Amino acid sequence: MKISPSMLSADFTKLGEELDRIKASGADMLHIDVMDGHFVPNISFGMPVIKSIRKKSDLFFDVHIMISQPQRYIEELKKAGAELITFHYEAEGDPAETIEMIHAAGLKAGISIKPKTPVEVLLPYLKDVELVLIMTVEPGFGGQSFMSDMMPKLRWLKEEARRQNTDFILQVDGGVNRNTIAEAAAAGADCFVAGSAVFGKPDYHEEVTALKALAEAARPQ
Ligand code: DX5
Ligand code: ZN
Repeated sequence: MKISPSMLSADFTKLGEELDRIKASGADMLHIDVMDGHFVPNISFGMPVIKSIRKKSDLFFDVHIMISQPQRYIEELKKAGAELITFHYEAEGDPAETIEMIHAAGLKAGISIKPKTPVEVLLPYLKDVELVLIMTVEPGFGGQSFMSDMMPKLRWLKEEARRQNTDFILQVDGGVNRNTIAEAAAAGADCFVAGSAVFGKPDYHEEVTALKALAEAARPQ
């Protein structure tokens, strides 16, 4: 059970300090949300920010790109310090080709779908990706409410992975907190993005530990 705190909810006036606290929290990776103001109705941050935090941090960089043209930015993201790139199925370009390009850059590849996209569209890609990300909010903003009706997608993916005898990290993103994480874990998720549930809390270590324990306790047998 892995926790990936989303930097979108960090205090950007003291980012270095925030990253040190995340490192000390026991988090497994850092979730970095890149938004282009076109694929989603918000703009976050891009290469200069990723590049500068790369110098400060040895956390695993889990980069979630909510951008219309993912293929265009793979090389730059790699240079900036990304280790895993998760792009959206709904974005431009053939997903199989995007996965290939991410791998060719020497990075791990993740594919994500928005809440309204049926999970079956992911079928052709499950053998090729290291991670599948199911959005449990409409992408674009932190602090929204968890959509429980996405849970069947997780169960379907777990079943498909078994059927195809393949394995990938099953990540959920959006509204994950102490009240919702068990539900996602019980449905098969094993990696949890948490923005507002971690950043801004007095003790990041306490939050990450609590989230992990709740996920572990709900792990399907
Ligand atoms: C939403 C982003 C999320 C966001 C999650 O588009 O992909 O990673 O930061 O924030 P919380 O955990 O607050 O819902
Ligand atoms: Zn995200």
